Amino acid sequence: MVDTCNLMREVMSIPPNYEVLLMHGGGHAMFAAVPLNLAGEMGAPADFIGDGFWSKRAAGEASKYCTVRHTAETSSLNDSMYPDVADWKFSEGAKYVHMTANETINGLEFHEDPSLPEGAPPLVADFTSTLLSRPVDFTKYGVVYASTGKNLGPSGLVVAVVRKDLIGDGELPITPGILSFKAAASSTPIANLWNTPNVFGIRALQLVLEDLKANGGVEEMQRRARRRAGALYDLIDASEGFYTNDVDPKFRSLMTIPLRIKGGDKELERRFVEESSAASIYNLVGHPLFGGLRVTVYNQLPDEAVDILLCFMREFERRVK
Ligand SMILES: Cc1ncc(COP(=O)(O)O)c(C=O)c1O
Repeated sequence: MVDTCNLMREVMSIPPNYEVLLMHGGGHAMFAAVPLNLAGEMGAPADFIGDGFWSKRAAGEASKYCTVRHTAETSSLNDSMYPDVADWKFSEGAKYVHMTANETINGLEFHEDPSLPEGAPPLVADFTSTLLSRPVDFTKYGVVYASTGKNLGPSGLVVAVVRKDLIGDGELPITPGILSFKAAASSTPIANLWNTPNVFGIRALQLVLEDLKANGGVEEMQRRARRRAGALYDLIDASEGFYTNDVDPKFRSLMTIPLRIKGGDKELERRFVEESSAASIYNLVGHPLFGGLRVTVYNQLPDEAVDILLCFMREFERRVK
């Protein structure tokens, strides 16, 4: 446990005034834990950025404990871009502002850590589908959390990096111990032992972190992600509308790339999935709620898999266009 937290601190350059917590329940646990630990009182204001699927899910859970408000008018952005940081407006007395660093389903990613103005509420970021793919400036955030099911290993755990001054004071009396930052941070003889830990998940995370460190760290993961996603977007853009991805180029995700064929031709998309599966290329179906196709390029995916997919996509386009 201690080694895994120290390794996470080392590979992500987490400053000493942040606690590394290994908790249960994935991203969904944090959707509740964040308001429970930061709200201070029931119904306190909390601000949310963006219109993506996971932002809405996080806001829905927070609304059980907080008065949730969106910081910028986002519906007109049509899930293809994030509101400009300069347009984020904060509620009077907001206890935190929440953003989703990579909208896994919508394929929208913040590539920079936002600088909020002096006096802004602490920034809380869901890094579930992007942590370990790039360096992060933690000083810009009050809380960064990531479910372990993407770049971090098997699902079930959640890593929460919490600025120490945010632990304790804002905790609502109803906070279950299992979701309490304070209980996790202050357990004895070591942190994160408030209840029996998920030893399997923690050991797997440790192996992932060791592998990452041995293979160039997050800087190398970022170079790799840019190269791989860049090649996919180049192919999409060069296809003259055969493949499309509608996300504003500034926010195109390097990890999760949704795409359509001929603007959403269901029959062609079905054929693409059938033929790619026959060629042993799997998991290209979009989220069940959104349809279309999606390429996920998490750290563990070998470069060869991306090369093979690119060949398949070129060949499919040539045959079908
Ligand atoms: C951005 C984001 N946040 C939260 C979650 C939920 O994580 P979990 O299923 O571990 O609760 C997901 C799952 O895909 C996600 O992509």
